[in-house]
Order: sequence, then structure tokens, then C-alpha cells
Amino acid sequence: MRIVIIGSGGRLGAALVGEYRDKYDIAGFNHAQLDLANLDDVRGKLDAMSFDVLINAAAFTNVDLCETERDRAFLINAEAPGVLAKIASDKGARLIHFSTDYVFDGEKRAPYTEEDRANPISAYGESKLAGETNVLAMENGHLVVRVSWLFGHDRPSFIDGIIKRAQENEQVDAIADKFSAPTYTNDIAHMLPQFFDRGVAGGILHFANAGKCSWQEYGQWALNCCREAGVPLKARTVGALRLSDMTRPRQCSGGQAPWVARRPVYSVLSAAKYAELTGTSPRTWRDAVADYIRRFYSKK
Ligand SMILES: NC(=O)c1ccc[n+]([C@@H]2O[C@H](COP(=O)([O-])OP(=O)(O)OC[C@H]3O[C@@H](n4cnc5c(N)ncnc54)[C@H](OP(=O)(O)O)[C@@H]3O)[C@@H](O)[C@H]2O)c1
Repeated sequence: MRIVIIGSGGRLGAALVGEYRDKYDIAGFNHAQLDLANLDDVRGKLDAMSFDVLINAAAFTNVDLCETERDRAFLINAEAPGVLAKIASDKGARLIHFSTDYVFDGEKRAPYTEEDRANPISAYGESKLAGETNVLAMENGHLVVRVSWLFGHDRPSFIDGIIKRAQENEQVDAIADKFSAPTYTNDIAHMLPQFFDRGVAGGILHFANAGKCSWQEYGQWALNCCREAGVPLKARTVGALRLSDMTRPRQCSGGQAPWVARRPVYSVLSAAKYAELTGTSPRTWRDAVADYIRRFYSKK
């Protein structure tokens, strides 16, 4: 099976390449090798290749920048995935395209299913939803996988940031009133091959580690796991910030710039459809985080 992975330099794309390198015939493109903003180049390069599965893990993921660079967000996150879907369809290949919990407005207080109405509240969310629509309009055999709060060793994310801050400071804080589920890129890489076959259901699929938490709970669990793994830290507990603090420059933790884009306060994804299709359930986010810290921090 020949697989092409776009976004191989990103957090998820690099994890996919690492997992599949020895198992499949893989070609990866990082941003410098293939620019989704250059649609002619995308067509030229991919039309010349043969593959069974095309995975798009590339995106314009800077949520705040998407607000001010709306056209670019729609070009990369919406128009380009439509072009990828067309290229894959023409070759009889399956496109697996990644999307986000940020397509939802966050008003629900129970896990979002694939049937729930998307209603994005940011340019990033709007552009990602338009990308989903473009992919599925081309052919309903393609697959859109929505994921949330990714972490993994290939590119630092929230968890690495809070561990670093806890190593350098006595006091660390994180938002306590925004909820979703952290999801380990390795877990996505392990589960995805079940969907390589075009015979397996296409459409939208939610995948996230099980359970729900705030950033504060996520950070606290990460520090607990570090302590368990013998990783030296100065801070023991994670203090609470409010979502509203993130829009005020002086309150932002870690010297972070204030947020421009609105974010959903609740964006837990239900993995019920995944469980029904595969007969398995994702492990809990706590188990996934503990595993990540054992593998990538306790060795340091
Ligand atoms: N991170 C999360 O918490 C999260 C949550 C929900 C959904 N998702 C979705 O999951 C997928 C993977 O996210 P991730 O966390 O792996 O993001 P990431 O680490 O930001 O990786 C995205 C990759 O896309 C590349 N890229 C950006 N613009 C490009 C362009 N014009 N052409 C080609 N490549 C381009 C980036 O390259 P540069 O770094 O050089 O720009 C980067 O390597 C995305 O679809 C994202 O929307 C992520």
C-alpha cells in the first residue's frame, strides 16, 4: 500500500510518518516540499504520483492568525483540501483529511457527535468546516477525522509548555473553564490504518482520547505524572485561570500574547461512532498523557 502524507513536518504528520515508515510505502511532504497555498504546484506534484491513500495532516493551525489572514486560512484549510479530494478521487484513492473540534460553537454540555450541527465561532473553525465540506462534496468515500487538543513528541504543545514552565517557576496556571480531551498523536497513528481501505465507511469520524478535562486539570495531571516519573519540577500545582483572562494582555500566563479568536468553551468529541465501527474505544486521556510522559520525559 502506497501512502502519501502531507504535513509531515507537523505534530500529527510527523507521528504518522514515524509510525508507518517501516510498515507501508510512504512518501511525505513537509511545508517546504509542498505548499498547499500553491494549488498548481499541489496538482503538479501529486498528479505525477501513484498512491492508495492520501493523508492531509497539514493546515494553517494558528487560530489567532487565521482571524487576520482569513483568505489564507480559507485557501489552505478549505480550498486546498477540495483539490486534494479531487486528485485522490481521480486516482481511485482515499483521502483522509484531519479536522477539528473547533468546528463547534461549544454551547453543548455533552460530547459532540458526528450528527451535531457544526457552528464555528472563529475564522479557523469556519475555514476547517469549509474544508470538510469540500472534501465530502467531492466523494463521500473520503474520510474526515475530527480530533482535539493534540499532543505528541514531534512538536511541543500545551503539555510540554506547562511542564517547562513548572520546571522553571514555583507557580504555574492554566485555564479552568474550557473543556475538551487531549489526544495523543501516537494513538491516532495506531488507529488510522483501520480506515485505509476504501471499503470502510467514509464521511466524518470523531477520534479523541476518552474523558474530558480543562487545561488546568490536564496540566495538573501532567505534573503529577512527571513527579511519578521522577522529572524534577519547581511547581507542584496548577492554578486556575479564566478563559476571559486570555483576552487581557497582562493576565496571560507564560508571557503568551492575548487571544484574538474566540474558542469553544466545551468541545469534547464523542468517540461512540468510532467504537461502533471498530469494536474498540480510545484509551483515556489520563492514560495517554501518563504514557507520553513515561516515554518522553522520564528518560531525560
Ligand atoms: N493541534 C491541535 O490541538 C489540533 C486540534 C484539533 C485539530 N487539529 C487538526 O489536526 C491536524 C494536524 O494538526 P497539528 O497539531 O499536527 O498541526 P501543526 O503541528 O501546526 O502541523 C501543521 C503542519 O502543516 C504545515 N502547513 C501550514 N501551512 C501549510 C501550507 N500552506 N502548505 C503545506 N503545509 C502547511 C505546517 O508547516 P509550518 O509549521 O512550516 O507552517 C505544519 O507542519 C490539522 O488539520 C489541525 O487542524 C489540531
